Amino acid sequence: MKEQSEVSRRVRQQYEDAPFPPVGAFPVRSEVDRVWLYSFQEVYYHATGRWRSPQGARLLDAGCGTGMGVQQIRHLAPGAEVHACDLSNASLKVAAERIQALDEEPVTFHQMDLLDLSELPGTFDAIFCSGVVHHTGNPVEALRQLRSKLKPDGVLYLMLYSRYGRRPTMLMRRVLQLLDADVPLGSELFAALPKDHFLARWEYESKGSHNLQHREWFIDTYLNAQEKNYSIGEVFSDLQEAGLRFVRHAHPQWWELQNRLQAPPEVSRRFQALPELQRYELMENLFSDQEEYYFLASHAESTSELPTRDPERVTALRSSFARHRGGSLWQGYFGMALELDAYMNELVEGCDGSRSLAKMCSAWNLRHPEDPADFSMAVLHQLERSGVLFFRDL
Ligand SMILES: C[S@@+](CC[C@H](N)C(=O)[O-])C[C@H]1O[C@@H](n2cnc3c(N)ncnc32)[C@H](O)[C@@H]1O
Repeated sequence: MKEQSEVSRRVRQQYEDAPFPPVGAFPVRSEVDRVWLYSFQEVYYHATGRWRSPQGARLLDAGCGTGMGVQQIRHLAPGAEVHACDLSNASLKVAAERIQALDEEPVTFHQMDLLDLSELPGTFDAIFCSGVVHHTGNPVEALRQLRSKLKPDGVLYLMLYSRYGRRPTMLMRRVLQLLDADVPLGSELFAALPKDHFLARWEYESKGSHNLQHREWFIDTYLNAQEKNYSIGEVFSDLQEAGLRFVRHAHPQWWELQNRLQAPPEVSRRFQALPELQRYELMENLFSDQEEYYFLASHAESTSELPTRDPERVTALRSSFARHRGGSLWQGYFGMALELDAYMNELVEGCDGSRSLAKMCSAWNLRHPEDPADFSMAVLHQLERSGVLFFRDL
């Protein structure tokens, strides 16, 4: 590996000593968690509006840590070529064990600094980079490096820390820095805090004490060698500086006023009139409860235009991540629940990609002559926007 910056050297040392996420909390096993953000098909679709088979796609987990993400990326994209890199050899070793335990197709691992990523051969259809950029000494350069490895229509999934949601973590981190504390001393300080102290409540109640139960977690959270915490405005400006474009939040419902509050009509009206970034700024100032930004990005010059959908030539598929909550209630993975009537429910159950939208809707309308002809089409669109269905060209 190339000579690294001082920050990369310290960060590498930290994650060699304390690989993350801790194996004590997430043992190596063959069963895989399923989070849609690690599915190539889902992130590609929700960034571009286009359905693509994972067959032959090139995917990269940049800063894979102990491999909880790359195990999913591998499992959810049969036929893709999967790569993963990290600074820490100790983390890569555990990640490789997870891939071995999975016993599916291989992953190629690289010990590499994100700041040298452009040296990795080839470009990628999707890059997954969760909780890494903010630990580098130069986040804008890290984003530029990611961009240099992204195909022109490629998708970048990023998770970055929010300075609002992570305020308790940042305060305790600073306290421990001032004390030059290690894990035992930091744990003693927590134990000495009154139980109703806001930092103690944060750790015991919101975090379920996980930082105190796993040494690696304590180090990652409270003793990190390098960490930048963003406002949403800074996320947008760092992306722009790196030649990237914010495409969408992974959980758009958190960022919509009407989903969080019965707002006075005039407040709603003014909120809706704001430009996109100012709506997000308003939300994070009002709620301050998102610890992390999960979002999709692309090349700045890539188009955000959705393909036109001809109902005769497009079919619908149910996402395997959508949940049928029983009865007529469906939930897409963006967290929004949708109540459907019995016939519509049946229609969704039957979305297997075999019939055009036009055929599906006319069959449905035959059973419901009393409804306007395009009703089921409107609901199908709503289900698509909620992450229950995909549209795919026939
Ligand atoms: C908090 S962990 C996240 C691991 C994994 N992405 C996940 O979400 O579970 C941060 C990881 O980023 C890696 N890392 C930090 N700075 C890096 C850099 N400059 N280049 C490559 N990896 C880096 C660390 O070694 C560590 O494994």
